[in-house]
Amino acid sequence: MTDTDQILSRIADAADLDAVEALRVEFLGKQGSVTQLLKTLGKMTPDERKTEGPKIHAARQAVQDAIAAKKDALEQAQLEARLATEKQDLSLPIDEIPQGSIHPVSQVMDELAEIFADLGFAVAEGPEIEDDWHNFGALNIPEAHPARAMQDTFYVDGDGEGAPMVLRTHTSPVQIRTMMKDKPPLRIIAPGRVYRSDSDATHTPMFHQVEGLVIDKNIHLGHLKWTLETFLKAFFERDDVVLRMRPSYFPFTEPSAEVDVGWSEVKGRRVVGGQEGWMEVLGSGMVHPKVIANCGLDPDEWQGFAFGCGIDRLAMLKYGMDDLRAFFDGDLRWLRHYGFRALDVPTLSAGVGA
Ligand code: DAH
Repeated sequence: MTDTDQILSRIADAADLDAVEALRVEFLGKQGSVTQLLKTLGKMTPDERKTEGPKIHAARQAVQDAIAAKKDALEQAQLEARLATEKQDLSLPIDEIPQGSIHPVSQVMDELAEIFADLGFAVAEGPEIEDDWHNFGALNIPEAHPARAMQDTFYVDGDGEGAPMVLRTHTSPVQIRTMMKDKPPLRIIAPGRVYRSDSDATHTPMFHQVEGLVIDKNIHLGHLKWTLETFLKAFFERDDVVLRMRPSYFPFTEPSAEVDVGWSEVKGRRVVGGQEGWMEVLGSGMVHPKVIANCGLDPDEWQGFAFGCGIDRLAMLKYGMDDLRAFFDGDLRWLRHYGFRALDVPTLSAGVGA
């Protein structure tokens, strides 16, 4: 057996990766025997080198290859041993993992943000505990104005110095906050919770509204009508949504309009679309010049429109629920039925203008 054969057989016999590494150092390391052999070449005569050189190089190559092959084989064996012992039995039944769902109100808020984002609207927010001025005064609802009686207000203690605070009765104060904070042109929607002392099948003390506000130059009722039509068609995902604007009164808009949508009866249910009858869905109008001036803007330069809409009602109409109180009971069976799965929430695939 040549020296090289001996080395190769020791490599072949190595029991594990540590042993292979030790052999590598022993033969190929700086002081390794094969490495040392290479160094002898320098001292040989050219003739010796001619015959010995190729042998030594071939031996080194053989040792290198053998070590690499042995390492591979041992690693492969190690992996196979692990796969054999760590095998998972995928057929075993597992405990059911409880799964949450998206509340219809959250779902509708997401849909609104999506639709209005397509129209260039940002989402704005404001506090739920509001002062009297933002909730009423700036919106042209002075003290003793009958409009205050329209909204049964919850009052909460103020800071002890000023007037009591209110739980905002609508999302309209976000209009004021936006106009005071940002420079026009403005396009926002403000979805959020609002509070009124009221409770029956269609009213709960807390509910949700979305406010819309556009402030720009030369804005007129046509812009309002187009925006609402585009929004409602995209939201209900039907082209046959028909709008009717009825003259109305809100202190913060002039002129004001209540907006109805046409419904039709499908399997004993009223659904939005068609024109068998009308139902009211929102309030709107051109922002009152006084409101614009209250926010420090010149009403001769800036005009705009606004609208306010109940989100819970939109959800009921679109997804077919008829008792508003169930929205806030926290009954898991209701949520499982009407909620949306987090991972495959149906989004408005069509978007606006598709
Ligand atoms: N704030 C009104 C309410 O809660 C709804 C509303 C009507 C908002 C007309 C508006 C609007 O911005 O223009 O009843």
